[in-house]
Amino acid sequence: MQRLAILASGSGSNAEKIMEHFQKSKKASVALIASNKTDVFVLERAKKFQVPTFTFSRKEMQEGKLLEKLKQEKIDWVILAGFLLKIPEDLIRAFPDRMVNIHPALLPNYGGKGMYGMHVHEAVKAAGDESTGITIHLVNENYDEGKIIFQAATAIDPSDTPEDIAQKVHALEHRYFPEVIDSLIK
Ligand code: GRF
Repeated sequence: MQRLAILASGSGSNAEKIMEHFQKSKKASVALIASNKTDVFVLERAKKFQVPTFTFSRKEMQEGKLLEKLKQEKIDWVILAGFLLKIPEDLIRAFPDRMVNIHPALLPNYGGKGMYGMHVHEAVKAAGDESTGITIHLVNENYDEGKIIFQAATAIDPSDTPEDIAQKVHALEHRYFPEVIDSLIK
């Protein structure tokens, strides 16, 4: 049974879908929810699924405390689901082709520094794009530039607000992220 850790910094709606999906799985389970925040809803969602949680500061992550915990918990896969800190290189190297991130746009567009959450959807709206989507990719040292595993798109209506766009993107995330993770695990 492979063990997944989910890193999240916020609400955790994707984390919830992943925990739900793997509850029934025979090949993997969510063994840990880790966050750099102590007051975020993802920690409540973990409780609902009886998944242990681990919180840490940026400093502790940089000192290796997160990597130590992941090793202690014998984690096989690290899933970034709305994790907003830059992952230290030693942590990325510890999970070669086993660290997966989801980005709320069609990379390489709208990636890189500062492109997260509503900033992405506001930029897509401002550009007048007719579609947007999600990208699920492996994480390497250059963060949003790892190998793309999966993308899905959705149409944008001219009347859509950035919030409407966010809703359409979240729907894609919830629909595909658990299954794409599942497909990566042998
Ligand atoms: C998602 O839009 C994801 O693409 C991005 O962060 C957001 C996390 O949302 N990386 P949630 O916390 O899973 O609801």
